[in-house]
Amino acid sequence: MITRGHDGILPRTTTLADESYLDFVESFRGMNFTAMYPVFSETADTEMKEKIGAVDSSVKLSTIREVVGALPITQVWQRFMRSHQEMMWRRTRESFAINEKELLAELDAAEKQGPGQLIYDPNFHVPDYTRMEIHLQPGGYTDDPLGGIVFHYGGKVFYQGMDNQNEHHIEFVELCKVPEDSKIDKVLDLACSLGQCTTNLKKRFPDSEVWGLDVALPLLRYAHKCAVDEGVDVNFIQGLSEDTKFKDGEFDMVLAYILFHEVPVKVMKQTIKEVFRILRPGGVFNIFEFPNASQELLPSERYLIDYDSRNNCEPYSPAFVNSDFRQIIIDAGFTIEDGGTSTNPFLQSIVATKPNT
Ligand SMILES: C[S@@+](CC[C@H](N)C(=O)[O-])C[C@H]1O[C@@H](n2cnc3c(N)ncnc32)[C@H](O)[C@@H]1O
Repeated sequence: MITRGHDGILPRTTTLADESYLDFVESFRGMNFTAMYPVFSETADTEMKEKIGAVDSSVKLSTIREVVGALPITQVWQRFMRSHQEMMWRRTRESFAINEKELLAELDAAEKQGPGQLIYDPNFHVPDYTRMEIHLQPGGYTDDPLGGIVFHYGGKVFYQGMDNQNEHHIEFVELCKVPEDSKIDKVLDLACSLGQCTTNLKKRFPDSEVWGLDVALPLLRYAHKCAVDEGVDVNFIQGLSEDTKFKDGEFDMVLAYILFHEVPVKVMKQTIKEVFRILRPGGVFNIFEFPNASQELLPSERYLIDYDSRNNCEPYSPAFVNSDFRQIIIDAGFTIEDGGTSTNPFLQSIVATKPNT
């Protein structure tokens, strides 16, 4: 087995040539976001003001597509966006596939190790709506046995090196609000992916029992292996956010980091009701998510979300963005307030509390 080890908790690609190539892709992505996106958004919003005379939500998306889509900067920017995403997944997967047999054997071996457990039913039915190739990842979250390690390294490129040691995930865990009475015996990381928040929830609340739930077994197998390697006592379970099978009132706190824009609105509504059910009175639901219709978005932001949905396989995000997310949370019985602000200005943060009475 060729192995170049890890950089802290991040696996290294199988060859240095892959690492160099992906470093280039990472800077390419960085250039697209930090240098090009501000110019694109200013040009797009100015063009909308000049041509249409409005930039608020009264403007139809079809008009934004027509006006903004015709700008040369838009065309270059979106070509680059699509290209770096395709380059990133292809090379990342090819690199780890060299050691596929050994990597899968490591996941098998970790399943027999603790301190925490990995729980799944081999007959679990993975619903089709979760099996999209979200973000263009080959096999999506659910269907590539190597999906965990590929998603982890893909995250290095996605977060442009700012989450290599889970820094970004740690920030969100630190921002989570705890129940008013500070009782926090049991915590759930909903749609936990690789368990990067899950393990850090355990580090923040060492006396609590911490669970991570996700529909995607390849991600959970990798999450469990990482937790075993770190010696962190957390449990992972394959399940559905909209039907977790946990008991009523079992949890004091639930966290969902960027889940809701990736499920159909029907599932989003069911999930919010499900979290209300499994939280105890006074329990807190911390949500970090895409912006949505509860907030006013600029045409450039609406164009970005629309672009992402069509070209980056985010099939559910437009309906999420257009939903009245905050009202849906309130209708489920929660009281809500704004959560803490993170270094990612794009995401909204909501603290939803299940009332005591
Ligand atoms: C953007 S990722 C969430 C990121 C993750 N919370 C983190 O800490 O990095 C979306 C996750 O939602 C999971 N997912 C999608 N639909 C789900 C469902 N109905 N139930 C449980 N997990 C689901 C996917 O498998 C994926 O891991």
